[in-house]
Amino acid sequence: MSGTGKMDKRFYITTPIYYVNAEPHLGHAYSTVVADVQNRFHRMCGQETRFQTGTDEHGDKIVQAAEKRGMSPAEYTDRVSAMFRETWPLLNIRPDRFIRTTEPEHVATVQHILQAVYDRGDIEFREYEGLYCFGCERFYIERELVDGKCPDHGTEPERIREKNYFFLMSRYQDWLIDHIKSNPEFITPERYRNEVLSFLRDPLEDLCISRPKSRLAWGITLPFDENFVTYVWFDALINYLSGLGYPDGDNFRKFWPHAEHVIAKDILKPHGIYWPTMLRAMGVEPFKKLHVHGYWQMKDQKMSKSLGNVRKPADLVNAFGADATRYCLMREMSFGLDAGFSDESFVMRINADLANDLGNLLSRTLTMVHKYAEGKVPDPAGFEGEADSPAGELEKAVRGLVPRWRGHMEAFEVHRALEEMWRVINVANRTIDRAAPWQMAKDESRRAELDNLLYTLLEAQRIFSILSGPVMPETSEKMQEALGALKPGSLMLSEAAWGGLKPGTETVRIPSLFPRLDIKKDSDVSSGGKASGKAGKKGKKMTRESKKTEKPGEGLITFDDFAKVDLRLAEIVEAEPVPKADRLLRLVVKCPEERQIVAGIAEHFKPEELVGRQVIVVANLKPVKLRGVESNGMLLVAKDDNGLHLTTVATPAAPGSRIS
Ligand code: MSP
Repeated sequence: MSGTGKMDKRFYITTPIYYVNAEPHLGHAYSTVVADVQNRFHRMCGQETRFQTGTDEHGDKIVQAAEKRGMSPAEYTDRVSAMFRETWPLLNIRPDRFIRTTEPEHVATVQHILQAVYDRGDIEFREYEGLYCFGCERFYIERELVDGKCPDHGTEPERIREKNYFFLMSRYQDWLIDHIKSNPEFITPERYRNEVLSFLRDPLEDLCISRPKSRLAWGITLPFDENFVTYVWFDALINYLSGLGYPDGDNFRKFWPHAEHVIAKDILKPHGIYWPTMLRAMGVEPFKKLHVHGYWQMKDQKMSKSLGNVRKPADLVNAFGADATRYCLMREMSFGLDAGFSDESFVMRINADLANDLGNLLSRTLTMVHKYAEGKVPDPAGFEGEADSPAGELEKAVRGLVPRWRGHMEAFEVHRALEEMWRVINVANRTIDRAAPWQMAKDESRRAELDNLLYTLLEAQRIFSILSGPVMPETSEKMQEALGALKPGSLMLSEAAWGGLKPGTETVRIPSLFPRLDIKKDSDVSSGGKASGKAGKKGKKMTRESKKTEKPGEGLITFDDFAKVDLRLAEIVEAEPVPKADRLLRLVVKCPEERQIVAGIAEHFKPEELVGRQVIVVANLKPVKLRGVESNGMLLVAKDDNGLHLTTVATPAAPGSRIS
């Protein structure tokens, strides 16, 4: 965590501008939600913010995609750009500026910059012969190829010779190395900073920035040679400036010094190397930070249009709702690392974190406030209890949460901010069980204690509602409405100080925040509403859980069915985290032979507290691989509002004993 607590007055966040040769998918949605969450967070901290996204519309790929559909590039780009623009509101993503590289203002800015860099002597006309990959629209040097083939397309590049304009990027290599070394947060997370520095150990080539119009007409004409257009990167990267009205715009002056870019690792080189050197050549100060994330994968492959394994944002919103989709995107990927996508993992997240932990906490609390306090926020003032009472501990946990949450948000570690917050949400759930308000309610002498407990629970949730705002804006509002704390205007983080809820305020009972979801395999039915979206390719559908209407006897199994399950007592002899998997532990259990099991319990148990424990396992499950680690069995646990509990036998028994 590297949150500084010291913030600029302003904040400018951008996403990549997406190519219009593909429709928006979950990968694009992730970067755009990250930027939206950060934008909302910084606004909440009182900064003046600006958020820009958009579409990248020039180049061969787009001409080809348009031709395939029998459309002109202009018609085609209009259509796909609109799909991106119309997708973002479905996810409650609210950019201040949606830029298109075909806009006249952008074209004029690119030409202005090209001319300035040319006049400065940083662009040269050269004859060039090289290996060109038409798929990538770029030249390769031999050592970048894999067995003589393009690393992305697996095809042999063609040797072509042409005259082109080159940006003399090599002139800025030493400056760039120095800048990266003296600004540790310029490129984060650190692994990507190291990647760029390691690339810069070799001499930097100059960058070819043009294409002859005879080969590509769909681009921005060079202001100093009308037979050429500029090649995609020199066009696309400049969007970050043209969207601010560079060079004279007020927004450029106000926001450029605070520019932070969000990208995935696929475009690290253009952003980590081309862009800062271009800015240097223009005499514009470098952007402030580059935040680089990993890939969403489907079955260990990058999700991408060319592999045809994409999930559309609109389908996710239909299946899960906007807030839950945003939450899962933020929670399931550790920023910087790759993450696997599956509908099942999203459903599990929603049921566990949103329906159970957060949703139940609110509905339990409101029910008690209506039952024991006429629906009004009680006054905690009369209670003179100890700080180590369950309510006192909850208050302490919530007070401690706010600065830690803020630190993680500032450090672009939203997944950690959420993890931390859910730890405290579960403290609140446990507080209810430990303090047993239903007992207090039976005893008039404990009235003040009950009032204090209810107040603490409500106030904790008012603070959770504020911290939910950047990731789940709709939920945040619903919670505040329920707590009688909804205020007009935007939420400020300064309001997350303890004690903001006024005693006497009317609370409102609202429908449950997140209905539980169910995955039904090979089923055609769904319970309707938002849950009717298609969920995956194998005929699985997501349904909001419907009331059980099972007939007696249905769902029962015979003894023979039960006897098929080989349950054994096992002793845990080793336990350690599975790298890059927050929820998994690798266990070695004696049963009586030693076997490896991967269990999704890392958030509930520390490895050291497991070694030596006797547990019950299913010993005859087919082996599966979880995050590449083989699992030969399943650990049985009990789950309640306090979390997970290991299952075991009442007195120690020999490892491997059969349970029947
Ligand atoms: N047009 C260029 C970017 C120019 S920016 C000046 C481009 N466009 S793109 O449509 O290919 O978008 C790439 C970006 O989309 C990635 O950097 C990332 O933000 C997002 N993603 C696309 N697929 C992704 C995943 N599978 N996973 C995570 N992010 C993904 O490159």
